[in-house]
Amino acid sequence: MKLRYKILGGIFGVIAVAIVALGLVLGYDADCPPAPDIAEGAETMKGVTYRCYGSADVLVYGDVEKPVPADDEVLVKVHAAAVNPLDWHYMRGTPYIMRLGSGIGAPKDERLGVDFAGTVEAVGTNVSRFKVGDEVFGGRSGAFAEYLVIPKDRALALKPSNVSFEQAAAVPIAALTALQALQDKGDLKPGQKVLINGASGGVGTFAVQIASAMGAEVSGVCSTRNVEMVRSIGADHVFDYKKENFTDSGNEYDLIVDMVSNHSLSAIRSVLSEDGKLVIVGGASGDWLGPLMRPIGAMLQGPFVDQELFTLLARLKQSDLDLLADMMEGGRVTPVLDRTYPLSDIAEAIRYSEEGRARGKIIVSVP
Ligand SMILES: NC(=O)c1ccc[n+]([C@@H]2O[C@H](COP(=O)([O-])OP(=O)(O)OC[C@H]3O[C@@H](n4cnc5c(N)ncnc54)[C@H](OP(=O)(O)O)[C@@H]3O)[C@@H](O)[C@H]2O)c1
Repeated sequence: MKLRYKILGGIFGVIAVAIVALGLVLGYDADCPPAPDIAEGAETMKGVTYRCYGSADVLVYGDVEKPVPADDEVLVKVHAAAVNPLDWHYMRGTPYIMRLGSGIGAPKDERLGVDFAGTVEAVGTNVSRFKVGDEVFGGRSGAFAEYLVIPKDRALALKPSNVSFEQAAAVPIAALTALQALQDKGDLKPGQKVLINGASGGVGTFAVQIASAMGAEVSGVCSTRNVEMVRSIGADHVFDYKKENFTDSGNEYDLIVDMVSNHSLSAIRSVLSEDGKLVIVGGASGDWLGPLMRPIGAMLQGPFVDQELFTLLARLKQSDLDLLADMMEGGRVTPVLDRTYPLSDIAEAIRYSEEGRARGKIIVSVP
């Protein structure tokens, strides 16, 4: 065998061993350690923690240390939180590649939850944007708890008085995702045709309303039981995916926002206008590379097609939260709420989210 083939073979062997080793390391689940002791004299609150990856059985509801705001932080008494698929991705540590950030073997951050709404309880000395008593909503890790601290310049906004804490808690991740898909990636203009695949879920119910508020002609895809709900929140046309396939419709859309990823890229492109845009939000499942396959496919095809294929990673952006607050205040967006669970039943709330059948948002009420 020629030397260069031996060298190439050696390189491929090393890469293969490295990939297998990385897979073993990332897929390793450490045992659940006992809860650490609470510091003597520290104030406590009820909160949800997890110290190992796994099903909702790893979630622990109990006493944890109440956070104390630093000079540039706001302490919020949480009244309501909302569940997102992101929460159980963190809980399970899947897809495994995310453990490079969330912790290998066990989570680095034992708190869970992001979306919340509540009342400002205290502010640090450097905080002027908020005052004690303000009703606020936002996104910050650790939202499944009675109290939460948020740096003053992070995703925190005043709650409009015409929406409840439960409605406001429903907003951050799902509505920011919908807004950023339609506005930032999709560059949606009044009169354009947009299709929302997954219109009845957390992100979809916001996407339908925001697209409609932006003056677009909105088509939503959902199952039979949700057709009326999706129509009622502003969809001009509804595809019942149990009876028809939107990729066979012969229609042409300027923008498709895809929360489900259940059709091939070529099928989706066949119903996109020549210079249309696809925004991939989620849907594909799998512990390993499954969720990455659609974005990778779009990245590989993108340079060779006229249509634009984007993958969205939503950001908790302060100015977008303010915009959503305005939209709620003006009645252009009203969060669609599904079930509400007490914080102590967080495991049930997460199990329900994992079923993938939510109609709008799943809420957690915090006593
Ligand atoms: N990229 C990002 O930054 C980002 C941000 C947020 C969320 N995501 C991802 O986006 C996806 C959606 O999130 P979500 O919060 O909206 O989830 P969700 O609320 O759990 O979505 C559930 C909804 O999906 C509907 N659905 C299921 N199969 C469908 C199908 N074949 N066609 C149309 N609708 C279908 C269900 O309706 P039926 O029960 O009637 O089928 C249900 O109403 C998830 O994968 C999530 O991880 C990504």
